[in-house]
Amino acid sequence: MPALTAIRGFKDILPKEAELWRLVEEKAREVVRRFDFSELRAPVMERTELFKRSIGSTTDIVEKEMYTMEDRSGDLITLRPEATAGLVRAFIEHNLGEGGRATKLFCLGPMFRYERPQKGRLRQFHQLDVEIFGDPGPHSDAEIVVLLHTFLSELELPNLSVVLNSLGCPKCRPVYRQSLVDYLSSRREALCQDCRRRLELNPLRILDCKSESCQTQVKEAPVFSQFWCPECQDHFRTVREDLEAVGLPFSLDDRLVRGLDYYTRTAFEVRSGNLGAQSAVAGGGRYDGLCLELGGADVPAIGFAAGLERIIILLSEKAALEAVGPDYYLAILAPEALGPAFALAQALRARGLRVAADWEAGGLKSRLKRADKARAAKAVMLGPDELASGLATVRDLTTKEQTRLALDQPGLF
Ligand code: HAM
Repeated sequence: MPALTAIRGFKDILPKEAELWRLVEEKAREVVRRFDFSELRAPVMERTELFKRSIGSTTDIVEKEMYTMEDRSGDLITLRPEATAGLVRAFIEHNLGEGGRATKLFCLGPMFRYERPQKGRLRQFHQLDVEIFGDPGPHSDAEIVVLLHTFLSELELPNLSVVLNSLGCPKCRPVYRQSLVDYLSSRREALCQDCRRRLELNPLRILDCKSESCQTQVKEAPVFSQFWCPECQDHFRTVREDLEAVGLPFSLDDRLVRGLDYYTRTAFEVRSGNLGAQSAVAGGGRYDGLCLELGGADVPAIGFAAGLERIIILLSEKAALEAVGPDYYLAILAPEALGPAFALAQALRARGLRVAADWEAGGLKSRLKRADKARAAKAVMLGPDELASGLATVRDLTTKEQTRLALDQPGLF
């Protein structure tokens, strides 16, 4: 019988790589804490309706990429393709906005999209998702971008660029949308199949279509900045000024529209030139209408999500991974040493030390080989001599220096 393998696009994170994941997740938690965010662990499944109403029923995510199924009672449920919708749902459901202050939440975990797997693109992937609810002002936009930039730059990711745009508000966006439709309608035949459909349903997405002919068509198309209302202009100006004030480098991109429909005003991405086609490490923006749309109060919000797999790719390209081993490897050299070794291991672990051992006796050479393989810092030799004298031989595996330590005083190890 052939052995079973993991589902395509679903990846095992093996122990060596998991160490790097732990570092990234610890950095994420540490940075969001500095910015005063609290964790909300949302479920990985939600009603399908939630994603249709938030991400938008004509987006690629909802049209083609969701893992949707009927549960045993006939309800349509979906594995979350992103975290924002679930967080908004939870925010409304638990009245988290009460108290007047902005509510700052983050969520770390797996997301699911049925995309074509390639480097940096999986079907199960992980995001750090960060959201601020309840502040309509531009300083929260800037704060979110600064948080994201702090996280990524403290991880020392190479070749990053921050790209910003403003997608306007319900006042100015329809005017821009119409002018774009007018412009592209006369060029309809030159658009790709998808974009002809988008022209009616979701024309802004044509701006970031990858097809060459669509890109040619949009080159001369009207740009959003010509249509921003005065309030959107002011808002975006302050965001940029805040970022300049803290020396955060960014560029503007008129064609940045994002793949989800809920955005208003500020939208942004952080890209790395070292990632190839899937260059977006993180993306986000403001979504002032979504709470109301999902049945809550009219609460403005802004947030981002960073893709952890892409961060891991960048980090592992930067430095070859050296797994760190235990503090001690217990080299058990005689069967009668098994009991004392077992007791010593627990005493050392109780002190917080990391201890490895194989629970069988072996020759000195073979045990030292295993200690090296485990990448242990030190080996503790336990044979008949050590048992007789009550003194273990401790060997530093880097310097090869040896000392003798009393077995009944684990505090000295
Ligand atoms: P998104 O741009 O769809 O935004 O995803 C954010 C990040 O998740 C991407 O920049 C990328 O790093 C990572 N990502 C997305 N799809 C995949 C995939 N198939 N494989 C690996 N990584 C992937 C959102 O999800 C929004 N919810 C962000 C947001 C939060 N906006 C406001 N608040």
